[in-house]
Amino acid sequence: MKKQVIIDCDPGIDDSLALMYALASPELEVIGITVVCGNVPTDAGVENARKACRLMGREDIPIYAGAQAPLSRALVTAQDTHGEDGLGEAGIPAVSEAERAYDHMTAAGADSDLPEGVRFLMERLSEGKISVIAIGPLTNIAMALRRRPEAFSNLERLVSMGGNFKSFGNCSPVAEFNYWVDPEAARYVFEYSKVPVEMVGLDVTRKILLTPEMIAELKKLNHPMADFIVRVTGFYVDFHKIQEGIDGCVINDPLAVGYFIDRTLCSGIDAYTTVETEGLSVGQSIVDEKGFWKKPANSRVLTNVDAKRFMRTFMAALFGNEAEGMVR
Ligand code: BDR
Ligand code: CA
Repeated sequence: MKKQVIIDCDPGIDDSLALMYALASPELEVIGITVVCGNVPTDAGVENARKACRLMGREDIPIYAGAQAPLSRALVTAQDTHGEDGLGEAGIPAVSEAERAYDHMTAAGADSDLPEGVRFLMERLSEGKISVIAIGPLTNIAMALRRRPEAFSNLERLVSMGGNFKSFGNCSPVAEFNYWVDPEAARYVFEYSKVPVEMVGLDVTRKILLTPEMIAELKKLNHPMADFIVRVTGFYVDFHKIQEGIDGCVINDPLAVGYFIDRTLCSGIDAYTTVETEGLSVGQSIVDEKGFWKKPANSRVLTNVDAKRFMRTFMAALFGNEAEGMVR
C-alpha cells in the first residue's frame, strides 16, 4: 500500500531533489505539494516545484502556494545558497501556462484569510491517514495546526527536516535554517503537534554529501534527471566550497523522504524538543535528552544515519540499475 503524503517545501535545490525522489518512489503517493517561503519567496518556490514535477512527468500533482512570510517576522531567504531563482541560476526554463495542464484551487470558505496551501493542508489532513514531509520552515504547518487542530488528529506522521541537536548550526553557531527562519512556527509545531515530530536535523543530513565523484558519474548518464541534478547543484557546490570548505554539496531534504520511506536508515532518541525564539540562540532546537524538564517526549530526534545506504537508495530510486557503482 502506497503511503499518502503531502510535501511541504521551499524549493530550493535540495528540496527539488527531494521532490524528484518522492515522485520516483513507488512507496509514496504524493497527493499534493504545498510551498512555504524560505529559501526563496513563495512564488519562486511554486515555480520551482512546477519544474520538478514537469521533469518527473507529474504535472498532475497539485501545487499550492502557502505562507508568504514567517508567522511574526520578516522573511530572510537563502538565495546566497540556492541562487536568486532558488535553482542555482542554472537557466531551467520556466513552466508555461500550457504545460500547467491542471489548475488546482482549494475552496476558500470560512478560511479565505489563509493561503491556499494552508487550506489544502487542513482539508486533506482532516481525511486522515495522511503524512506530511516538511522540508522547509514550518510556517504552513503551524498556521494550519493553529486554525484547525482537529484536522491533525488523524495525521499519520510528521517528518521535519530542520534543527540540530549535537551538530552545529548552518545559520548561526546554534541554529539550522528552517527553524531559524520561522522559530515561532517551529516552536508551535513541536508544542502542539498531535504526533511526535520526527526531526531530521543537521546531525544526520550533514552526512548526506553529493560528492564530486557522484556528480562526475551523473554527467556520464545522459539522463534528463541526472542533467538536472548536475545543472542545479553547480551553484550549491561553489557555495559549499567557499562557506564550508568541502567538495561537493550537502543535500539535506532528500534524507527526510528516505527516512519516511525506510526508518531503518536512521536511528535516534525520543525526547522533548523546543525551539528558541529570542536572543542570541534564536532558532536553536533544544533537545532535552536527559529529561531535565520532565516533559513527555514530543519528538524523535535522529542522531545517526547510514549515509552510504541512503545515497545508494536515493540514486537507485532515480536511475535504477544505471546507478550501480555510483556510490562507493
Ligand atoms: C535546510 O535549509 C534549506 O536551505 C534547505 O533546503 C534545507 O531544507 C537545511 O538547513
Ligand atoms: Ca528546504
